[in-house]
Amino acid sequence: MEIIIQPDARAAASMAARFFTQTIRRQPSAVLGLATGSTPLPLYRELVQKRLDWSSITTFNLDEYLGIGADHPQSYHCFMQENLFRHVNIDQGNIHIPDGLAENPEEHCGQFERGIQTAGGIDLQLLGIGSDGHIGFNEPSSSLASRTRIKTLTERTRLDNARFFGGAGLVPRHVITMGIGTILDSRKVVLLATGDHKADAVAGAVEGPVSAMNPASALQLHPHAVFCLDSAAASKLARVDYYNWVFQNKPSWQRLDED
Ligand code: F6R
Repeated sequence: MEIIIQPDARAAASMAARFFTQTIRRQPSAVLGLATGSTPLPLYRELVQKRLDWSSITTFNLDEYLGIGADHPQSYHCFMQENLFRHVNIDQGNIHIPDGLAENPEEHCGQFERGIQTAGGIDLQLLGIGSDGHIGFNEPSSSLASRTRIKTLTERTRLDNARFFGGAGLVPRHVITMGIGTILDSRKVVLLATGDHKADAVAGAVEGPVSAMNPASALQLHPHAVFCLDSAAASKLARVDYYNWVFQNKPSWQRLDED
């Protein structure tokens, strides 16, 4: 794992954005895995400002609430259109987000998985992390081998997301999410985490044991996982000096393109 610690949330998002910019420039037909939530907003703003060519890019989003439609203002369909897709030249036919109103959700999950395979697999997956360590909506105790499926949100996640719905009681209980196994199949993963409310989850994911109780710890099994953190999210890591030293001494062939 690569742990990159930046002084603040904006710099951490910029660092994560550089991985996406580099992939889109070097691989114009890349398949990207995308996330929603508050954390990636500055990253998406930066990608929009860069005026990249998205015309041949394909995207798969991690998750969607079950029971709400694409036109619901809190749906992840709406979020993605608002914050990214309508600002770039992506072909709308290349966008894949689980359908919260699928007639047969279980069958839909299988189709979503097959869609990723047909597209050639995900080249670069963006992740956030829940305060309980969830990635996608794989809550603690999720199988580390799981595939896209229906999950039940924990009360903690519903409380965390209450701010978007105007109350925890209004947050749907069920979601469709890529599984941890699905995420681990991506060729590269960039997890962006900012704020001290993520510090425990990040410390558990990076320095704790691999455990279904901290789903992000499964990334220890991934050959190319990068954590882009601000200093608040990194504040409970024990080996910050080492991670900073490694980053400062990266060999030139491993460095990211300059902007
Ligand atoms: C959203 C997702 C979630 C979020 C996580 C953090 O697509 O997959 O795992 O990344 O809940 O959300 P924020 O960024 O709002 O703290």
